Amino acid sequence: MNSRNRHLFKRYIAQASEFEPFIIDVAKGEGVYVWDKEGKKYIDFISSICVNNVGHRNPVVLKALEEQMQKYLHIMVYGEFIQQPQLDLAETLCQCLPPNLQKIFLLNSGSEAIEGAIKLARLYNHRSEIISFANSYHGSTIGAMSALGNEPIRQRFDPLLPDHRLLEYDNEEPLDAISDKTCCVIAEVIQSGSGMKEAHAGFLRKLRQKCTEHGALLIFDEIQSGFGRTGRLFAFEHEGIVPDILCIAKGMGGGMPIGAFISSEALMELLNNEHPLMGHASTFGGHPMSCAASLAALKLINSPEVLPKVEAKGERIRRHLQEIPQVKEVHGKGLFLAAHFENSRITAKVQERCMANGFISFWLLFNHQALGLTPPLTITEEEIDYGMELFKKSVREAV
Ligand SMILES: Cc1ncc(COP(=O)(O)O)c(C=O)c1O
Repeated sequence: MNSRNRHLFKRYIAQASEFEPFIIDVAKGEGVYVWDKEGKKYIDFISSICVNNVGHRNPVVLKALEEQMQKYLHIMVYGEFIQQPQLDLAETLCQCLPPNLQKIFLLNSGSEAIEGAIKLARLYNHRSEIISFANSYHGSTIGAMSALGNEPIRQRFDPLLPDHRLLEYDNEEPLDAISDKTCCVIAEVIQSGSGMKEAHAGFLRKLRQKCTEHGALLIFDEIQSGFGRTGRLFAFEHEGIVPDILCIAKGMGGGMPIGAFISSEALMELLNNEHPLMGHASTFGGHPMSCAASLAALKLINSPEVLPKVEAKGERIRRHLQEIPQVKEVHGKGLFLAAHFENSRITAKVQERCMANGFISFWLLFNHQALGLTPPLTITEEEIDYGMELFKKSVREAV
């Protein structure tokens, strides 16, 4: 490791983890691999936290970027001029979505998508109560942080948005707390931070029904689970429960920064008022380069080569995990998986060995017994086998 770069990294880049980060001095990313500057190859089994769903530097994404680069970069704040890449992306994406999710607000990140969704809910029912679930993370801006599913961490930033209620995830009874005072409920269909814990269909059905009954808007955060991760384009499709607002980002951009919230024509109309751009605005939201990359990635994910193969690839990983006695539980769907170990000490050691052996996995925000396994959807069977052998070796060395 270049000691000067390590020094510069610590000296100038604001650090958000108190403990020692896993520093890889990145030279290149291609397909499912990342190389450091000493030539060490890592297989990326987390897709940079569900961003590189079509792998690193996918040729179709690069081609779209090159073509767009020849035309224009930034032109004008979002929503003022017509920009073809935004239209093409919005049309293609909305064609994949149900009738009540047909209008899209393009932004730059997941946190911004959550902010926009909360604002839209406020405009809809003028209520203040936000309900979210224990062990959920929806972003780092003040509004998104207000919905964080961890009270001690939230309290560090008090006062956040008022009237926040935290409910237990995947438990139907507490959903009775949703009332005529509730502005919106924010939920993941599969909770990433707790180790890809799935909610049962009964829970999601009751959640939908309670929101409808009380005029509260249901916001699904598919910022990690979206864009093919679970074997469907969006995780909510598995259960047939449709939100009022869908928040997306990460895998949306094929490696470029982009996010969005999507809702109905009628709801989105609430952002439109006599104060131009004051319903919601973003200078870089829907950047043409990001939209071009996003459309290319979306078309590839939706092709017969990618989406229909995700479940079988996930099953292949699960079969490998079954051979590891130290893996006590596996949660998730498709290529949105987490391996749960007996305790956090073993998990930390496994992760340390994984990095040493050239296998990138990642710890999860609210469950330190689990490691995320979310490789690019474009990973081949051979690459899965190669990666999982490294994972098995790492577990053997850790215990
Ligand atoms: C489930 C979920 N929601 C929201 C966010 C926030 O997205 P961003 O970091 O793009 O603001 C993240 C980021 O990790 C996330 O995992």
